Amino acid sequence: MNLTQPSKLERYAAAVDAMREEGRRWGRRSRAGVDFASSDYLALASAPRMKEALFATLKAGTPIGAGGSRLLRGNCEEHEALETEAARFFRAETALFFGSGYIANFAVLTTLPQRGDLLVLDSLVHASLHEGARVGRAEFRIAAHNDPQSVEDTIGNWRAKGGVGRVWIVVESLYSIDGDLAALADLVEIAKRYEAFLVVDESHATGIYGEQGRGLTAPYQGREYILVVHTCGKALGAAGALVTASSVLRDFMINRCRPFIFATAPSPLMAIAVRQALLIVQEEPERRRRLIDLINFAHRQLAICGRPTRSSSQIVPYRVGNNARTMRLAAALQARGFDVRTIRPPVPPSRARLRISLTLNVEPDDVSEMIDALVEETWGKLR
Ligand SMILES: Cc1ncc(COP(=O)(O)O)c(C=O)c1O
Repeated sequence: MNLTQPSKLERYAAAVDAMREEGRRWGRRSRAGVDFASSDYLALASAPRMKEALFATLKAGTPIGAGGSRLLRGNCEEHEALETEAARFFRAETALFFGSGYIANFAVLTTLPQRGDLLVLDSLVHASLHEGARVGRAEFRIAAHNDPQSVEDTIGNWRAKGGVGRVWIVVESLYSIDGDLAALADLVEIAKRYEAFLVVDESHATGIYGEQGRGLTAPYQGREYILVVHTCGKALGAAGALVTASSVLRDFMINRCRPFIFATAPSPLMAIAVRQALLIVQEEPERRRRLIDLINFAHRQLAICGRPTRSSSQIVPYRVGNNARTMRLAAALQARGFDVRTIRPPVPPSRARLRISLTLNVEPDDVSEMIDALVEETWGKLR
């Protein structure tokens, strides 16, 4: 044994120390203050109807755990009922339930694109999509953010260099960092022109946007080249993700998708919760209306205060442009009772910002008070 070797933990400790010094170290901050940070957009995570559905199903004897993979004994009637209902709601041919959005995105990109294919990812898609592209079989390229022309140029260049496989365009419908909307109509046209697949992560749109909250892909659902990931841990207030796709792709995933095959199925209770959330979204449209009113109110207030944002959604980026100032501003707001969180590295420091999230867990008065505090802390003490 070499006694001069550093301790096994030393390099990890050094990395954490370096993160602390550069203002990049994260800790786990517990919930405190008014919610301007969660993605529980429709306040379904603690809605009485959700809880009642779970109490009733537990009382009726539904097990807590699935007890196995979907391909073994873990396939429960609750999963299948959810998938049938989700396919009907989203007007897709089929839906497949995964344990989380991260896994669903990773699963789609590591299972469906084949060797010789090309993935074109918007530069700001979620980490799980980048990870799936990195690990999967196809080549991948990054297109400029929300720039259909860049997507088209990327495909054109690849084809010009002899790329002959299938192209997969990968985007979010509502981007989780800047709260901006994808140019879906243009991307659909490009997908048609190049006979490509279009994979759309609807995490932040599902339940809120599109007819009846079906997402921004609602007008295009059911087309065989559209594949959509609807996560269930945000506006739907539960956990998991529903991948909607043609039955051919669904069957291929059931047979080839390793994260689907070699994992314990999601809890049947979660399937019940998601199904209840889909019902609430359909039966209580006032929730979506109240959220949209709140979003419009917040953007108006910010504009009045001289801080308009480019977002028009419930995700409100408030650029600060420097890590330390961003952290100080968040800490000042948190001290005043507003749970506002930051987006910091790995985004470049110049893009450091507060990411204010609007949900039905707050009232318009809370929004006004938070914006007053934000403006005061930005222009007052912190300048
Ligand atoms: C755009 C986007 N996609 C996917 C995910 C992952 O979803 P989940 O939290 O269900 O794993 C998130 C969550 O943070 C997200 O914001």
